[in-house]
Amino acid sequence: MSAKVIAFINFKGGVGKSSNVVNIGACLAHLHRRRVLLVDLDAQCSTTYSLLRPTEFNAIDKKRDPEFPYRPHVTTYQIFHDSFRGTKSFEMESAIKRGVPYDKSRAELIPLLDLLPASIDLMRLEGGIAPHVFQYNIKPSLRKALEPLLNRYDYILIDCPPNIYYIAQAGIYAADYLVVPTNPDYLSISAFNAFCELVKDKTDATTIVRSRFQGCPIAAVTINRYNRIGIAFDTAISELYTKLYDLIDQQVVHPQCIVLDPPIRTDVRMNETVSEHKPVILHRPDSIGAVDYSMLTSAFIKHFEVTLHSPLL
Ligand SMILES: Nc1ncnc2c1ncn2[C@@H]1O[C@H](COP(=O)(O)OP(=O)(O)OP(=O)(O)O)[C@@H](O)[C@H]1O
Ligand SMILES: [Mg+2]
Repeated sequence: MSAKVIAFINFKGGVGKSSNVVNIGACLAHLHRRRVLLVDLDAQCSTTYSLLRPTEFNAIDKKRDPEFPYRPHVTTYQIFHDSFRGTKSFEMESAIKRGVPYDKSRAELIPLLDLLPASIDLMRLEGGIAPHVFQYNIKPSLRKALEPLLNRYDYILIDCPPNIYYIAQAGIYAADYLVVPTNPDYLSISAFNAFCELVKDKTDATTIVRSRFQGCPIAAVTINRYNRIGIAFDTAISELYTKLYDLIDQQVVHPQCIVLDPPIRTDVRMNETVSEHKPVILHRPDSIGAVDYSMLTSAFIKHFEVTLHSPLL
């Protein structure tokens, strides 16, 4: 079985892309024994920092060639840099951090969870690249780099930056499906429509939809930072459902696109997990965040392993 490659993307910042990638990925591997690779495409390195301690992250930096301090061979940056320069410096096998996160004695805490880290150098790739170089070299390079890994994993989850520039588009191109994380607030829901239409334009214009792909790539939406206080959150969520049905009718999103249930409630443990460099199910298995993420992951598996392979009713 080939891995399902799923990119988490929204041009809105802070909506839970990295938290979803880290915590859904961890639940898939730890609770459901799926083989998972997380791919960090964001120069902020949130997914990478969420799973590696600073000393472990610095060990990646040590692999840099001292003559060329801006060429980390073992992060996603190098995949794009190679495609741009025509070099072959990226080393996939040494780049993948296996069984992340680690305990203090370097033991693997989730043996089925692997990470392809990011580097801040990714920022340098967005400027000064001619559109045809992007189209023919950079855009397909991530998909090409991941292809030899497809039989090794059940899921490859890609954390995209909060925009839809070149690196994010390479993430879309590499993916079979897209998940759009949102927050239940007016601005996030208002931006949702525009974002889906933009992705559709990009996928049409750049032939991102590969032949084996059925339908539009946006296949699920997640809701993060939900609160059961007042009615504002529930009003925003019902507005999201209305928008989603319209987008399905207009064929802007996948015909079986759903809002994955439950919403992830606001939980201070979720903030702590980042500085603890652990997913919430390891950091606080009894917390609200852990409970919500384990339920969300069951819904995620049902959607991506069953529903999307069933005929439309
Ligand atoms: N359920 C939650 N409860 C409380 N805090 C949360 C929750 N989910 C995420 N956060 C916090 O919200 C912040 C933004 O989340 P996250 O980094 O996942 O968003 P993002 O969409 O990846 O952001 P960016 O656009 O900057 O990449 C982080 O500090 C994270 O710890
Ligand atoms: Mg992020």
